[in-house]
Amino acid sequence: MYSSIPKGLTDFTLLLEKGTNAVVTNKYNPFYYHGALPQFYLWVLYLSGLLLFAYYIPTIDNAYFSENLVNAWTSVDYITKTIPMGAVIRGIHRYSGDAMVITILLHALRVWVTDRYRQYRWIQWVTGVALFLMVLFIGQTGYYLVWDERSLILTRMTVSALNALPFVGGGLAAWFLNGSSITNLTLSNFLFIHIGLSFFLLFGLWLHYVRMTRPVMTPPPAMNYILMAVLLLVVFAYPITSGKMADINTTPTSFDIDWFFLFPYYLMAHVDLGVYWFLMIGGSLLFTFLPLPNLYKAAAPVEAAEVVLNKCVGCRLCSLDCPYMAIDMVPAPAGSRFKLLAVVKPYRCSGCGVCVGACAFDAIDLPNLLDSDVTAQIKKMAEAQ
Ligand code: HEM
Ligand code: SF4
Ligand code: SF4
Repeated sequence: MYSSIPKGLTDFTLLLEKGTNAVVTNKYNPFYYHGALPQFYLWVLYLSGLLLFAYYIPTIDNAYFSENLVNAWTSVDYITKTIPMGAVIRGIHRYSGDAMVITILLHALRVWVTDRYRQYRWIQWVTGVALFLMVLFIGQTGYYLVWDERSLILTRMTVSALNALPFVGGGLAAWFLNGSSITNLTLSNFLFIHIGLSFFLLFGLWLHYVRMTRPVMTPPPAMNYILMAVLLLVVFAYPITSGKMADINTTPTSFDIDWFFLFPYYLMAHVDLGVYWFLMIGGSLLFTFLPLPNLYKAAAPVEAAEVVLNKCVGCRLCSLDCPYMAIDMVPAPAGSRFKLLAVVKPYRCSGCGVCVGACAFDAIDLPNLLDSDVTAQIKKMAEAQ
């Protein structure tokens, strides 16, 4: 079979996976939950974000209210210092975002190394890249919301970068700021983007999952507890603090970088903006179309599985096992002894042969690989042992 992955890399991953099985058993092996891990952190982000949202005030106003300055920065400060467990919730929100980025990258690496990203999985790959870019942008808007000096620098850097884009740049910058300069409306726009995109992510995930028959989306409960315990350890070991409150009349110049979300800003600060966009757009396209040569290979005609009508008893096993949802169960024609009949959707069939193995009635075949041929080959191999 065609594969662009160095065999040594695949073998090494499988060896690592086997070794982990020996230590934690296959029920708790994180390798088997590579997609479920970012999904787990997403739920944690939603829940912790909801709690933070209850106290967050999206304004930069320096007006005084009840003798206390009330704006985004002070509301975050209030959450962190005054609300019971506020600092913990904030830490959970911040670090589960970082953990989501790490686990997404490991997930992408894993599907690439084990060659599970091409052919009929191209939809998962392409939607996966879009999800990753969205997650990065959502995380960055989270940093603007704190409205400390770092938020101000990042906001200004983003506006300069957008303005450098030909044709669309000015419009995008105005959309980003919700006007022509930083105002209260800017922060409400950031909050809208942060929350709106977070929920739009669910639509992207639906597209990511729609062609998978049984995606593994949740780690086992014991693993959830361990993940949560590790997250809490990090939260207590490295408490989150804000920088100084942003003042739009000043020009702060340096900021601490969170490498998981803010690496584009590092690049932005060190290269020309034209080069920055070239690298960002080029890098995203490269990542998206990494499987392109393989997609091209996959475009070679596939011989779809075929149901032997007079043998099918309508047991559904093939339909349940097909990884690509390529088999529908339809009512059997009048006069049949059975209620259902399997029908293959050729445009979805990858010719993988899983259904042939699933059918106990010899009622589904790949045209160029009959069930009897497979059995004969297996017997021959067994005899040769
Ligand atoms: C928000 C981020 C993401 C989440 C929550 C997520 C979640 C998942 C889950 C739960 C699965 C099913 C895994 C299984 O059943 O074993 C999956 C499969 C897959 N994902 Fe993601 N994913 C994300 C991002 C990505 C990215 C960035 C890529 C690659 C660029 C990617 C590529 C794939 C591929 C190719 C599969 C199919 C693998 C297979 O069939 O074994 N995903 N994803
Ligand atoms: S060969 Fe069978 S199991 Fe594989 S995709 Fe086609 S119908 Fe589904
Ligand atoms: S497994 Fe075989 S008998 Fe059962 S529905 Fe599929 S083709 Fe028909």
